[in-house]
Amino acid sequence: MEKLKVLVVDDEPGIRSGVVRILRNYTIGFPFMEEDFSFEISEAETGEIALEKIQGGDIDIVLLDNKLPGIQGIDVLEKISKMRIDTAVMMITSYASLDIAVKATNFGAYNFVPKPFTPDELKSSIENISKHLFLKRMTARLKEEGKQIRFQFLSVLSHELKSPLNAIEGYLKIMEEKQVGENINDYMSMIDRSLVRIKSMRNLIIDMLDLTRLESGKKKRILKGVDLREMAQLAIDTIQPMAIQHNINIISEIDDNVHMDADADEIEIIFNNLLSNAVKYNRDNGEIRFYVKKSDSAITITVSDTGIGISEEDIPKLFEEFSRIKTVETRNISGTGLGLSITKKMVELYKGNIDIKSKPNFGTTFTVVLPI
Ligand SMILES: Nc1ncnc2c1ncn2[C@@H]1O[C@H](COP(=O)(O)OP(=O)(O)OP(=O)(O)O)[C@@H](O)[C@H]1O
Ligand SMILES: [Mg+2]
Repeated sequence: MEKLKVLVVDDEPGIRSGVVRILRNYTIGFPFMEEDFSFEISEAETGEIALEKIQGGDIDIVLLDNKLPGIQGIDVLEKISKMRIDTAVMMITSYASLDIAVKATNFGAYNFVPKPFTPDELKSSIENISKHLFLKRMTARLKEEGKQIRFQFLSVLSHELKSPLNAIEGYLKIMEEKQVGENINDYMSMIDRSLVRIKSMRNLIIDMLDLTRLESGKKKRILKGVDLREMAQLAIDTIQPMAIQHNINIISEIDDNVHMDADADEIEIIFNNLLSNAVKYNRDNGEIRFYVKKSDSAITITVSDTGIGISEEDIPKLFEEFSRIKTVETRNISGTGLGLSITKKMVELYKGNIDIKSKPNFGTTFTVVLPI
């Protein structure tokens, strides 16, 4: 249970003890909140004491009387408004002149509760102010996190683009200055390496576009009857050249008549990512098993490889953006770490599920279940 700290500022002891009594065992919950709120109450009999307490601690809600012996409530409020703290103030006052009310509103008082109030009136005001506080804090946090995530995203992206650009620039400079002579053939390895870097940048950009389109909801989805057998065959044909280079055998079992309402591009992304990982993180002369099976309620896609596998503690990280497992074995394998996070998002568009089983040095199996 989350505790909100309430400070009652009133020179009448009866009011202070009344508030304590009413709120002591009071809790509130909202459907959108995980936890209920309860209240921890402290008291101040003057504005001076109140300001000290507010400055010193994390007070969430202030119940503030205006007529106080020394400094007046409205002046306390003004001082609070200048502190730039996250405290909500509720004025409790027996008679509020229009002047005071206007001032209080300008200084950011959340509301007024006229004295005397019944326990129910106090509770309902406290309920409102707590909800207001919770939503305000939640919004601030979401904004902050959103910025944070975008920042991380952009810094990783620019980092990932910078290193291939630097490499290509370096090779071009060598060529410009003809550092290894006049013969173009002597520059072939540099040209090849530049082309490889360009290809990986292009892949990164394509992945990024997929991801941002997906997240902004801008990607137009075209749902129609898709033949998954055809799509699976296409994915095998796409990956085959890379598999052949490593002498990896692809064994496929694909049911006839696996149709579902889907966006063909999205299915292609799912297949391509799983198969490309199964080749990339396999061993030379390894094997891939690629199954597409249909039952009454779902289509199950399984891609197993005989590769390097993934340790238990790395598995939870796999679906995070830009997450790549760094080991001796993956050191020379290029990738952006976006493939699986995109795949997972695609699968979720179909209310499906992606599951992984892996044993280091033996291989990995990804299973995607798409309900139909
Ligand atoms: N079949 C697999 N076997 C072992 N490790 C894998 C496998 N598939 C993924 N991984 C690990 O998970 C990480 C994330 O995979 P993901 O597909 O998201 O990114 P990537 O392959 O590095 O880059 P790309 O965006 O080009 O796909 C990989 O870097 C790799 O370490
Ligand atoms: Mg990948």
